[in-house]
Amino acid sequence: MAKEKMVISGGATLEGTIRVSGGKNTSVAVLPATLLADDVCHIENVPDIEDVHALVDMLRKLGAKVDYEGPNSLRIDPRTVDTWHVSYAEAKRMRASYYFLGALLGRFGKADVAYPGGCKIGSRPIDGHLKGFSALGAETEVKGGRITAEAAELKGTDVFFDLITVGGTINVMLAAAKARGTTVIYNAAKEPHVVDLANFLNSMGAKIKGAGTDIIRIRGQEKLHGTTYAVIPDQIETGTLMIAAAATHGDVTIEGCIPTHMEALSAKLMEMGVRVTDNDDSIRVKMLAAHRSVNIKTQVYPGFPTDLQQPMSALLTTAHGTSVIQETIFESRFRHLDEIARMGAHVRVVDRTAIIEGVPQLYGAPVTVTDLRGGAALLVAGLMARGITEVYELDYIDRGYEHIEKKLCSLGADIRREPAD
Ligand code: EPU
Repeated sequence: MAKEKMVISGGATLEGTIRVSGGKNTSVAVLPATLLADDVCHIENVPDIEDVHALVDMLRKLGAKVDYEGPNSLRIDPRTVDTWHVSYAEAKRMRASYYFLGALLGRFGKADVAYPGGCKIGSRPIDGHLKGFSALGAETEVKGGRITAEAAELKGTDVFFDLITVGGTINVMLAAAKARGTTVIYNAAKEPHVVDLANFLNSMGAKIKGAGTDIIRIRGQEKLHGTTYAVIPDQIETGTLMIAAAATHGDVTIEGCIPTHMEALSAKLMEMGVRVTDNDDSIRVKMLAAHRSVNIKTQVYPGFPTDLQQPMSALLTTAHGTSVIQETIFESRFRHLDEIARMGAHVRVVDRTAIIEGVPQLYGAPVTVTDLRGGAALLVAGLMARGITEVYELDYIDRGYEHIEKKLCSLGADIRREPAD
């Protein structure tokens, strides 16, 4: 397909109600996890995004029968899967291809997956995942751009993570769900998608307790059955829409979200002077007056999520005062700020810290997306700016946000997709 750009005519106020899509980072774990089932799985509330399309391709290449039962529902029959190899062409399409390691290891006792791709936001090693597999009794090797893991029998054990890792926690859960005996993960990640993946596996008959705390206990099962499961709403899309509402001095209600997942962001927005009101499954964000600067340090859940640091930093470029953002999770997650500087932002990045001196106004300019959440940041900047912002390299945004410009336009934004020059 020909490359496209988004053309944003800035300055519109976002108003109204919008429904959030299903979680990307949950779906990209749940889809590979279906390989562990002995029967058909029906997965609902799956976002219609490129990362999901890529995973569907990968599952089909492995031999699974995958059918869309609706734009957001998949029927996955993993019984016909007969290989444990994932090619470079497939794996490089996304980071989450590493979940095929845990899922194939659990299913076949072996996995051979090319090194994963994904956004260039830091070095992103997966040594913790491999240590976890080794602890379960697998021989692992990284050679020639491929990762192999093989075990005559996976045996439950204690797994200690030196560093909290979302991907590593999920990968060990996947393999351990089919291991003999009990695995206990210490220093586990507590992100909502870790909990959702555990709930999904439990709906297939797995015995996982403690997900959402830093100790997860998994009693391995010989068989896991098919299931019907709806993934949780997307925490990061919810947050991006909340930030976009604030950025445009809007009044937006985001429906179908889980407000407790948004506490860190809500607290920061309120500190900036934004009104945030929670209901059972919706959040209303209303900007009352000009917003104040705040300091942010990204942390593992329930701290401020790194995935929202980028759109939030866009909002802070027009705050009153100077904000300091410390990015503690990934080494290189400020590249979007170079682009927003082209729009008039005053920003200085020193190592993993960004110092943002608020300016009264951004001005539209051509900008280029460098990674998924950086793309969301550029959309927020374009919505705030005076004049026209052209956003290039939309593939990153399409990987992780379902029809984002349509959603924003339904709230009053003026965004068009056009062929890129
Ligand atoms: N790390 C290691 N060794 C490991 C694993 C991680 O050193 O074995 C380091 C990483 O380099 C990073 C930190 O630990 O500095 C955290 O990495 P983590 O494993 O938690 O992240 P991830 O699994 O690579 C997932 C999400 C990211 C999200 C992070 C943090 C998926 C597919 N990706 O990445 O999402 O930022 O957790 O919450 O779920 C995104 O959606 O845009 C995105 C990048």
